[in-house]
Amino acid sequence: MSPTAKYGPGDSIRGGIPICFPQFGPRGDLPQHGFCRKSNDWVLEERCSDTKAVYKLSATPDTRKSAWPNEFECYYSVSVGEDGSLTTALKVINTGQKPFSFTCALHTYFSVGSISGASVEGLKGCSYEDGLQPLGSDAITEENESIFFQNEVDRVYGPTPSLLTLSDKKNERAININKINFPDAVVWNPWVEKTKGLADMPDDHYQKFVCVEVGAIRQAVTVAPGAEWSGSQCISVMPLK
Ligand code: BG6
Repeated sequence: MSPTAKYGPGDSIRGGIPICFPQFGPRGDLPQHGFCRKSNDWVLEERCSDTKAVYKLSATPDTRKSAWPNEFECYYSVSVGEDGSLTTALKVINTGQKPFSFTCALHTYFSVGSISGASVEGLKGCSYEDGLQPLGSDAITEENESIFFQNEVDRVYGPTPSLLTLSDKKNERAININKINFPDAVVWNPWVEKTKGLADMPDDHYQKFVCVEVGAIRQAVTVAPGAEWSGSQCISVMPLK
C-alpha cells in the first residue's frame, strides 16, 4: 500500500488488489482499468467464515450509461488458507440478453524489501506486449529466466504458465502466484519518472513494490447470456531458496 494512497469516493486505491474490470488499461472506451476499482456500489454479499468473504457488484444506472452498458453481476471472493495463503477469485455472470466481452486483471501490488535484486520468474519463452510501446506494436518473446528491474517495466505477458514467482531478495522470500483461468500476467514497476507523476505515491516508493497482475487481457473474454466466467489467484510466501 502506498503510504500516500487516497481512499475517497471515486479514488482507486494505490495498493492492495484493485480489480480491473470490465477493461484492462486503455484497451477500450472506458476510463483506464474500467469502473470496478472505483465503484462505491460493492456490497458484502456473504461472510462465509472468519477467513472468507464474498463481495458483489452488479450493473447500476451509472454503468448502464457507460461505454460498457451490459447487465452483469461480479463476485469477488477473498479467503485466507490455513497455510497462510491468500486466494482471491473473480466471477462474472452475464445477467442480460446479449453476449458481452471484457478484459480484466487482479492488479496486485506486492511489497518488496528493495527493487534492486527483486525479480519475477516463470515467464521465459512467453510472448509479451510492451506497454512502453504504442498499443498494437509487435509482441516480443521473453528470453530471460528472471526479469529484473533497472528501469520502467510495463508488460502484458500471455499466455503464461500458471505459476509465477516474485523473488523478494532483500527479504529472502519468494512470493508464489498460482493462477487459474487467467491466461495473462502483467509485470509493472513505474521507476523514477513515472512515479513522480503519480500523485498518490511518494517519489521513491517505486523501490518498494512490484505489481504482478493476473489477467485476461490480450484476448477479451466473451460471456453468453446466462453464462459465467471465473478466474482466481492463490498467493503464498516461502523462504527464498
Ligand atoms: C498497470 C498498467 O496495470 O497499471 C500500467 O500496465 C499502469 O500501464 C498501471 O501505469 C497503473 O495504472 P493506474 O491507472 O492505477 O495509474
